Order: sequence, then structure tokens, then C-alpha cells
Amino acid sequence: MSDTKAKPLLRALAGETLTRPPWWLMRQAGRYLPEYRAVRAKARDFVELCLTPALASELTLQPVRRYRMDGAIVFSDILMLPHALGQELSFQQGEGPVLKPIEGRADIARLELSRVIERLAPVCEAIDRVARALDSQTTLIGFAGAPWTVATYMVEGGTSREFRRVKSWAYRDGEGFAALIDLLVESTVNLLAAQIAAGAEVVQLFDSWAGVLPEPAFERWVIEPTQRIRAALKQRFPSLPFIGFPRGAGLLYERYIVETGVDGIGLDTTVPTGFTRSRLQQLATVQGNLDPVLLLAGGAALENAVTELRRRLGGGPFVFNLGHGVLPETPPDNVAALAGLLAAPTA
Ligand code: CP3
Repeated sequence: MSDTKAKPLLRALAGETLTRPPWWLMRQAGRYLPEYRAVRAKARDFVELCLTPALASELTLQPVRRYRMDGAIVFSDILMLPHALGQELSFQQGEGPVLKPIEGRADIARLELSRVIERLAPVCEAIDRVARALDSQTTLIGFAGAPWTVATYMVEGGTSREFRRVKSWAYRDGEGFAALIDLLVESTVNLLAAQIAAGAEVVQLFDSWAGVLPEPAFERWVIEPTQRIRAALKQRFPSLPFIGFPRGAGLLYERYIVETGVDGIGLDTTVPTGFTRSRLQQLATVQGNLDPVLLLAGGAALENAVTELRRRLGGGPFVFNLGHGVLPETPPDNVAALAGLLAAPTA
């Protein structure tokens, strides 16, 4: 018997098929919301925003108040971990994140693993505040970046197109690069455990750049570290669901699920629903994967795509989400329309 009093998102992640799929959106808090822009204008910079619990908790709740998603994802960023490790981080307007690049073993040795939890205590305080404010049906989601994706930013010094530095390092000096990945595994376990202790009921690991690696490197730098993080958390929190999002993994999605043991699998926009149904949905609860541009476009295109996605994936364990984050230009009314479509039972 299933516990019908349990929160819908937790039920779906435990493998239940619901008549109405639970939903949340990656980047559901952000620039597309006028109330976000108003709060953003109050903080000196984005890092300060993430480290001010009153503001971070308010930003977490904004989209949930408007649209009543089934999940509230704590407002922070995957790059707060390098920041907490002592790597200089800033967000330049219109340019994305800028970090002082890590170049080798000497830079790794300077990272301050022991300071992470105290420096990210404000994120946990924001989680605690949100937990107190949420109703009995909404699930609180904690998150971190996966070691590979976080390492790409730490080594490239920002967003990259070709990943020349980080890949060259990983290929030339696997052992040296493994020291960085190992440090990220350990600090990510500590960070996620602290989020769970503060009230996160699910965690998602964002591996946004998983899709740029060939298979052997994918095994070593995506699957292995994720498996270690998942195993460490399962040991401490056996019933806490773990969602992996290896964006762009393509055919390797299947191995990723089997070998990491995730409960939920975040699908990027390009994963075909036929493949999802025949190969992935038996292995894990699938989450995704509406094209964020359809949410931006709205109208009949949005309606048809949502209906079709629910028809194809709604017959098994399914969490509705986008294939990547909400785009800043998205009209808020389109998200309201999506909420309306998802409120009806699956046809
Ligand atoms: O609502 C939520 O999803 C929670 C908050 C959240 C943010 N970033 C806030 C944010 C989450 C879960 C993230 C994850 C994140 N951050 C990822 C993984 C998901 C993905 O998008 O692939 C990555 C790669 C980052 C790194 C990052 N943060 C970049 C590259 C940028 C600049 C580009 C951009 O979109 O602005 C950010 C900034 C950022 N993170 C913003 C927000 C709301 C915009 C900051 C602003 O107000 O200017």
C-alpha cells in the first residue's frame, strides 16, 4: 500500500505512478519573475544574495507561491561550493560566472575543505526557513553540482565551449585531476548532508556538462564520483531520494542510472520519449524534459507538447520538469498556463 498522505513528489520518486504527475522546474526562481528582479536589486551581488538567508528563502518561495509547484528548490548556485572552498567567484552582468582558474596540484592544496560547511551555513539556514514555510504537500529540494561539472568551472575559470583546459588536464594527468574530483566528492557529500539535516527532503546533483565526455572519461569523471556521493548519502539517509541530471549523456543515460543507483533521472531536452520508456523508466523515476523554449513560446505548441509528454511518460513513475532551466525571457503567464495544464489528470 502506498502512503497517499505522502507528498506527491516523494511518492513519484519512490516509484509510484500518479494520475497527475508532480512537477517543478529547474531555475524556477530567477530573472523571468518580476518579484525576483526586485529582490535581486536589493543585494550587492549574486553571491551575497545566495548567502543571505532571508533573501534566499524568499526567492525559493516566490515561484511556489505563484504556481504551487510540487517542489521548492533552494535558491543557491552550484558555484557556491568553489566559493566556499576559497576560490574567488563573481558573476559579471551578462557574462556569467568568473573564477580564478585552478591550474594544478598547488592550487588544489590551497582549497579549504574544512571551511565549506561554515561558509555555506547561510544556505542551510535558508533551507530551514523554507522548510518551516512550506505546506504539507510541497517537497523541499536540495542540490549541488556534480564534481565533473563543478571542476569544469573551477579549471576553465567560467563557462566553456570546448573544455580544452579541463579535459587536457584530465587526460594528461588523471591522478592529479582525480585529487580535485576526490576533494569535490567529499565536500559535496558534506554539503548535501548538511542540506538534508537542515530540511531538504530530496537532493538533485546537476551534471550539466556530463555530455561532453567520451565513454571512458564519462565512466571515470561522471559515473564514479556520482556513485560515491550517492552511496555515502544512502548510508546516512537510506530513504532520501537522489536525482541525477547528467545533461547530454545520450546513450550513456542507461549506464549512468544502473551504475550510480539514482532514484530519479533528470532527462535533458534531447532524450527521446521512446528510449525513455523502453530503457529508462523501468530503472528509475524519469524527470523532464520539456524544451525550455516551448515554455518561452507558449500557446498551442506548449499545450500540445505538454499533453504529448504526459501521454507518453505519465503511465509510469514520472516527474514533470523542463529539459534544462527556465529561460530569463519566459513570460510568467506561460508558466501559469503550464501549471493549469498539469492540474488536470492525465488524459
Ligand atoms: O531555481 C533554481 O533552480 C535554484 C537556483 C539555481 C541557480 N543556479 C540560480 C541562478 C540552480 C539550481 C542553479 C544551478 C546551476 N548554476 C547550474 C546547473 C544547471 C544548469 O543550468 O545547467 C549551473 C551550470 C550553474 C552555474 C551558473 N549560475 C551560471 C553559468 C550562471 C550564469 C548564467 C545565467 O543563467 O545567469 C549562473 C547564475 C545564476 N544562477 C542565476 C540564477 C537565478 C542568475 C543570476 C542573476 O540574477 O543574474
